Amino acid sequence: MTSTMKAVRIHSFGGPDVLRYEDVSVPEPKSNELLIRVHAAGVNPVDWKIREGHLGQIPLPSVLGSDFAGAVEATGSDVKGFRTGDSVFGIVSDDSGGYAEYAVAPDSQVARIPKGLDFLHAAALPVASITPWQALFDIAQLQKGQKVLIHAAAGGVGSFAVQFAKWKGAYVIGTASAQTTDYVKSLGADEVIDYRKTKFEDVVRDVDVVLDTQGGDTQERSWRVIKPGGILVSIVSPPPKEKPTAPGVRGVFLSSKPRGDEFAQIADLVARGIVKVNIETVFPLKDARKAQELSQSGHAHGKIVLTTEAESH
Ligand SMILES: NC(=O)c1ccc[n+]([C@@H]2O[C@H](COP(=O)([O-])OP(=O)(O)OC[C@H]3O[C@@H](n4cnc5c(N)ncnc54)[C@H](OP(=O)(O)O)[C@@H]3O)[C@@H](O)[C@H]2O)c1
Repeated sequence: MTSTMKAVRIHSFGGPDVLRYEDVSVPEPKSNELLIRVHAAGVNPVDWKIREGHLGQIPLPSVLGSDFAGAVEATGSDVKGFRTGDSVFGIVSDDSGGYAEYAVAPDSQVARIPKGLDFLHAAALPVASITPWQALFDIAQLQKGQKVLIHAAAGGVGSFAVQFAKWKGAYVIGTASAQTTDYVKSLGADEVIDYRKTKFEDVVRDVDVVLDTQGGDTQERSWRVIKPGGILVSIVSPPPKEKPTAPGVRGVFLSSKPRGDEFAQIADLVARGIVKVNIETVFPLKDARKAQELSQSGHAHGKIVLTTEAESH
């Protein structure tokens, strides 16, 4: 096996021009880690936020990206349940990166790719799917028959959130722009509100759960649509302690955590055709800059994925 690989790294924080496609040493797996030959890497807004330094200092240079799908190349001595050659997806270790031909990941952050799902679609899953899974099920304990409001329902997180909530039997309201209304309905939303034309707080009442993917003004206006005993889960900004709200309404901030067992449950729903993965654009790894610019626009409709298939060894 080769000792170097192509990867996209940053040597300093900044705009898209700090991204460098270059030769890097192949990482070595620790005892609990898998070495993965990455075939595809998912792109998430957190990637450009890290690039710009918004998430604090990380050791530099650093390979960006958290989501991967690929084949197990080698396993650490303590790894159980995975073998060389397995097709897997998940989230890399803190000191590894997905925008690369090889990455390492702890076995607890990885799941098998079910038959029928390709690397590109599997790479679109990790962060965007586990975040609404944990928000709706682990935190909000969403139940059948409850009403949920999902902001940015056509986005990476929102599109999985709509499908998970429908699968659970909830009544789903999504916010989206006019051009994605039909798409969000096709995911199963019962109502779609064009956030550019209609103030959602004028037409929505008594929801049990709000999934806040926007923060700011959207979060502020969301408190008044929640019924007593309901909950807002924000994935972008911690709710303030003092909020104008009905009695007993809770606000929780979620920073999602990689869990192989939850990835496996999500992959099963995808394999059974219950949840669909919508890819907006696939870029070659060397065009990570274009991929991040599209992500940073805030208007991607579906997931952005990098492929390493075109890279030469
Ligand atoms: N805390 C965590 O663990 C965690 C995990 C994952 C993501 N996040 C964060 O969650 C946010 C969403 O992530 P994502 O991957 O879903 O982003 P995304 O895919 O880039 O979201 C794009 C979507 O947002 C829609 N949108 C933009 N402004 C909107 C508004 N005011 N109201 C309703 N929809 C709006 C866009 O619709 P139009 O283009 O049609 O306008 C587009 O469909 C990001 O800030 C990300 O960093 C946090």
